[in-house]
Amino acid sequence: MTKVLLATDKPFASVAVQGIQKICDEAGFELVKLESYTKKEELLQAVSHVDAIIIRSDIIDNEVIEAAKDLKIVVRAGAGYDNVDLAAASARNVCVMNTPGQNSNAVAELGMGMMVYLNRNGFNGTSGSELRGKTLGLHAYGNIGKIMGTIAKGFGMEVRAHDPFVERARIENDGVLCDDTVTALYSSCQYVAVNLPATEKTKGSINYELLSKMPSGATLVNTARKEIIDEAGLLKMFEARKDFRYITDVAPGCKDELQEKYSGRFFATPKKMGAQTSEANINAGLAAARQIVGFIKNGDSTFKVN
Ligand code: 3PG
Repeated sequence: MTKVLLATDKPFASVAVQGIQKICDEAGFELVKLESYTKKEELLQAVSHVDAIIIRSDIIDNEVIEAAKDLKIVVRAGAGYDNVDLAAASARNVCVMNTPGQNSNAVAELGMGMMVYLNRNGFNGTSGSELRGKTLGLHAYGNIGKIMGTIAKGFGMEVRAHDPFVERARIENDGVLCDDTVTALYSSCQYVAVNLPATEKTKGSINYELLSKMPSGATLVNTARKEIIDEAGLLKMFEARKDFRYITDVAPGCKDELQEKYSGRFFATPKKMGAQTSEANINAGLAAARQIVGFIKNGDSTFKVN
């Protein structure tokens, strides 16, 4: 019998787990659950003799793939798959997929929510500021950027975007102004929301040189990955620009220092929360389970990333 492992150190809402269970039951697959685990050893043990794994940000490295002797497919229930060693998976002929777009709305809503939270001083009763009339720059115009743009326009913000992989017409058709360079985007926006994947090219690419181009009231919003920010540059920007603020769903290594020195200008969620809604869990979790059934039963490799 085909065995599917649900390995999530940050568990899905139970309604999503029930949906995954139903899909597996209907397919005649056995679902094994490893939720809220804390040690890699638990994962290494759980992966032996499973054919498929559903994960979130859980690390699937060479050691895990080696330990999973029967593994055929890993589906990252979410967008970013930088937590999976694609080369190791390919070497073992293991298919890796993601579920693009399934949790984007949740991430976009959190990004906007964090902007309001920071502008209202953590809802502490003091006078804050509004988003209306300000400019939001979308650094990448994928599923999350597009939704953030729609919400931001509802707030009365001017929205701009830079994304070399998206046709200018597609951006402009959404009523979003298009900047040809990343420098132009940062130079024209008080708020910049980063929605980049973590790749060798993007890691450390948000640096002091770029941030320092932002106009007065500069606020960086990161719901993507901590690695894309150059932390030395971030610290330098905090030091150099008293107006600079940073809100993030992916806490940087220098979180404690920022919290201590720049309280009120820095906010990080205690645990990555972007995709943590029951709707996103259902969308991404069920899509992952369906993709596994499609792959095992019919060889459907849509959304394969390796
Ligand atoms: C993603 O890449 O889909 C998001 O970062 C969500 O990650 P999570 O499933 O670990 O919350």
